Amino acid sequence: MRRPRRNRKSAAIRALVEETRLSVNDFIFPVFLIEGVQKKEEISSMPGIYRYSLDLLLEEIEECVNLGIKGFCVFPSLGDDKKDKMATEGHNREGLYIQALREIKTKFPQIALMTDIAMDPYSSDGHDGIVENGEILNDETLEVLGKMALVQAEAGADILGPSDMMDGRVGYIRKVLDEAGFTDVSIMSYTAKYASSFYGPFRDALDSAPKFGDKKTYQMNPANAAEALIEADLDVAEGADMIMVKPALAYLDIIKLLKDNYDIPITAYNVSGEYAMLKAAAEKGWLDGEKVMLESLLSMKRAGADIILSYFAKEVAKLLK
Ligand code: PBG
Repeated sequence: MRRPRRNRKSAAIRALVEETRLSVNDFIFPVFLIEGVQKKEEISSMPGIYRYSLDLLLEEIEECVNLGIKGFCVFPSLGDDKKDKMATEGHNREGLYIQALREIKTKFPQIALMTDIAMDPYSSDGHDGIVENGEILNDETLEVLGKMALVQAEAGADILGPSDMMDGRVGYIRKVLDEAGFTDVSIMSYTAKYASSFYGPFRDALDSAPKFGDKKTYQMNPANAAEALIEADLDVAEGADMIMVKPALAYLDIIKLLKDNYDIPITAYNVSGEYAMLKAAAEKGWLDGEKVMLESLLSMKRAGADIILSYFAKEVAKLLK
């Protein structure tokens, strides 16, 4: 008789036949930057995750580097005085974000430094594009994204992450980079980014919630899967080096779909709401926090993710060590 249980009979055999494993090499740690010195503010809906001023962020990155983490994605959290309709601060060479990227890359040249390209952290409308009469303009927004890409590349970023879902952004950014000689700077496209309610805690962290309406005219409808293939076709054709599915847990089928159809690396973004959910249940003693963290991260790899952006990165790196 065929008895699958034979391959589960001891820890040693289970380890031998294990198909999927987590490694510290899989992770990119998203981190939040604020202005000031010696500042460390906990994000209330993300226990254990903080907004840091640059001096303390450098210390945090150093700790993570010592744990073996190689990828970091920096998000800026700005005051309202730095926001306007055109997200001008997003391409200010002397601004908080670009200066921080420069310093991080100088101090840690060996890391993979990823950025965010989108207007929302700098937009007084809280949207990822230029707003005119209540509409989000596409092609006008590309110009702003191109400017952001250039200053980020100049500052030493290794991987640019356009997270806005405007049409044509990957091709536009690739062209701007290549024309300026930044042929080695990579693009990780937020390819299948859904209009999800799991971004809530992140928007708290950045104070970046839309001032009116929602993001449904640019982010994808959670009901759609085939549409992710259209987005991926375009991003690959436009020159993306890596493609992403976001969120991760409620979209494991999309991760699998892209993995089965494309040869380039697939990233899963284990977003803020997914982190908050597990942390809240663990705090209440309803779930074993460590175990559900590992199980859910493993599910993303099993679905086909090569890279995982996760707020759990530091915690998991400690466990794997
Ligand atoms: C926006 C952006 C968002 C996230 C990353 N970049 C939120 C949004 O689209 O409103 C969310 C990440 C998370 O929830 O962890 N450009």
